[in-house]
This record gives sequence, C-alpha cells and structure tokens, in this order.
Amino acid sequence: MVLRIVKYGDPVLETKAAPVTQFGTPELRSLVDNMFETMYANKGVGLAAPQVAVSQRLTVIDPSAGEDPNAKLVLINPEFIVKEGAQVGEEGCLSIPGFREDVKRAAKVRLRAQNVEGGTFEVDGEELLARAMQHEIDHLDGVLFLNHLSLLKRDLIRRKIRKLVKAGEWQ
Ligand code: NI
Repeated sequence: MVLRIVKYGDPVLETKAAPVTQFGTPELRSLVDNMFETMYANKGVGLAAPQVAVSQRLTVIDPSAGEDPNAKLVLINPEFIVKEGAQVGEEGCLSIPGFREDVKRAAKVRLRAQNVEGGTFEVDGEELLARAMQHEIDHLDGVLFLNHLSLLKRDLIRRKIRKLVKAGEWQ
C-alpha cells in the first residue's frame, strides 16, 4: 500500500522518533513493505518512518531505486559507529518536493542497526549510500536537509514554501 508522505511543516518531521521495541510483528513487516512501496512509487532512494507520520526509528533505503533487489536496506534503531571524510552533493527530500540543494556529508560511514526480526548487524556505506544513510537517519532525529544549509538558503526555501502553502499547493 502506498502511504501518504507528510510534507515540510508537519511537526512529526521535526520530532525525535522513538526506538522500535516490538520486532517480528505483522505490523512492523507491513510498515516496512508499505514504506518500500511508497518510496518506489515516489522515485525516492530512501524513506524514514516519520515521513509517513510514524514517529519511530525506522528507515528504508535503496540507492538502486528498485533496480537491484540486493540493494534494499532496512535500518531499525540505527546508530553511526564511524563517519569519515567529506562529500558534497545535491540532495532532495520526498517531504520537501521541488527543492534540491548541495549538502556536505561524511564520505564513508559504518553503522549498527537492527533488522525486522530484531537482530543486530553492521553495514558500511560510501558515496550515494552513505549520503542516503545520513539523510534518513537525520529524519529520525527530526533533522531535515534544510538544517544543513546556510540561513540565507534555508530562509529562501521557507519563504517559497510559505507561498505554496498559501496557494494551497503544499499538501
Ligand atoms: Ni528526506
């Protein structure tokens, strides 16, 4: 089922999400399935649970955008262990459609997370995968890519969004 993605302005996007505590349940499995379906339907490479109004520490990522079944990644209660180097690249967000900006991120990361069954694993990421991991895990802390921009750029985007809200074009 494709879920509704909440847009910038909804407080859930700027709220720190709670850890997932129940594993292996039908609810968790269907949330994960629906999040992948929603992400692919919107041509995204990552989606965090707060973006579908579920304030829990869960994100799905697929840098291949559905091309490679082995690229699907479910991260539950993820924590970075290592962040190294720097990369700058353009980012967008399904909750802030129509806006893309350069964001500086770590070049390489390693993180620890749990899977749907509750098992713990570690995973490395670089380039686009590392960027997606940092963007999505930010969502779990209520942080958006806008928070990484200069005040000037952030205000410009906020002003444009306010106009879209007034025009009824931001729902
Ligand atoms: Ni996002």
